[in-house]
Amino acid sequence: MDGAEIIAWAQSLGRHSDSPEHYTRTLFTPAHQAAARQLADWMRAAGMTVRVDAVGNVIGRYEGAEPGAKTLLMGSHFDSVRNGGKYDGVLGILLGIGCVAELNRRGERLPVAIEVAGFSDEEGARFQTSFFSSRAMAHGFDTKLLDKRDAAGVTLADAMREVGLDPARVAEARIDPSTLAGYVEVHIEQGPVLLNEGHALGVVTSIAAGAKHMITVTGEAGHAGTVPMPLRHDALAATAEMVLAIERRCSAGGSLVGTVGIVEVKDGTGNVIPGEVRFSIDVRAGEKETLDKARDDVFAELDAIARRRGVRLEGNRTHDVHPVACAPWLQDRISASIERTAGARPARRLPSGAGHDAMVMAEVTDVGMMFVRCGAGGVSHNPAETVSREDAGLALAALVDLVRGFTPLQQRGAGQ
Ligand code: GLV
Ligand code: MN
Ligand code: MN
Repeated sequence: MDGAEIIAWAQSLGRHSDSPEHYTRTLFTPAHQAAARQLADWMRAAGMTVRVDAVGNVIGRYEGAEPGAKTLLMGSHFDSVRNGGKYDGVLGILLGIGCVAELNRRGERLPVAIEVAGFSDEEGARFQTSFFSSRAMAHGFDTKLLDKRDAAGVTLADAMREVGLDPARVAEARIDPSTLAGYVEVHIEQGPVLLNEGHALGVVTSIAAGAKHMITVTGEAGHAGTVPMPLRHDALAATAEMVLAIERRCSAGGSLVGTVGIVEVKDGTGNVIPGEVRFSIDVRAGEKETLDKARDDVFAELDAIARRRGVRLEGNRTHDVHPVACAPWLQDRISASIERTAGARPARRLPSGAGHDAMVMAEVTDVGMMFVRCGAGGVSHNPAETVSREDAGLALAALVDLVRGFTPLQQRGAGQ
């Protein structure tokens, strides 16, 4: 197993796409299920037993040397954003499988069992359900989500039934966190820091907080030729002003960022004044206080714009995660493995601006993350996203080194 095989796997998995034109894989589509089957096949070939849990997570298990050993969980997600890159999420699953394949090839069993989880839905692109599957595993499933509908009006419950999952059994996805020795996620950096500084690998120190909202702006539809400009309640013009207000407030500096990625005009027609618009807000920051303050200011500004323009605002929060610190002992272990295998001394430590399943797992166990250098200028959530074979090979070597040194002392979180 080497870096070239990992990259070939990622390219091959990328063929399972909802769209023939680009790479998009959203929850419980035929492409998503084909990818799940492929992951399960690779897991079995690597020496793991495989189960698919009640929310569609694909989990491979490689037993430890002794029965009853704790489990080191590794993983990431195999869904994608629309027209995304083929490494976001997938890389971490494939490196986990590759790592177990390597242990299996050497005939090695460890003081811990290893599980590799392919999480079914992290991006939440189809149902606006970010982190739905790792959350179901860590905390149990929030059954309110079952009524969520995709753009075609299909409920999440029906989408589950279509792929043979029973919405009445979602609670079974929950695991007992006391069986875990920790969670390790490898992920493409999705930014330019490692690339610009010449590091193949990095150690994640913390993961930024994030909040997402879907907003509906209701104005008044009308004839584009007859309603005088001062009398209009144009929902899209109001939205445009709101988008710029969000950009302005979130440009305050530091780790704060804000994005509107979805804008939909209901019944949009060229000669009709837009009467209703839905748009998304995504705000992130390294510290929760910065995020909360920015969000309060943003909503105060949106309310003021709505009042001035005579439109109505309704919003709901689809996602809210606190910033997460990676466990210092796991940071040190990952750092030592990078130094031994990639030769970088000291290993580069950096925070993550992107969200990861590790944020959810951190609520129930210690988490560590390793970043792999992103090529093409560091671009991600973009089809140009890329990872080199050499870097994938170094990541694999570092991960194998990490798990081979994963002794019971570290399992308790007490060792350095
Ligand atoms: C995951 O890709 C995120 O939105 O950070
Ligand atoms: Mn992503
Ligand atoms: Mn990701």
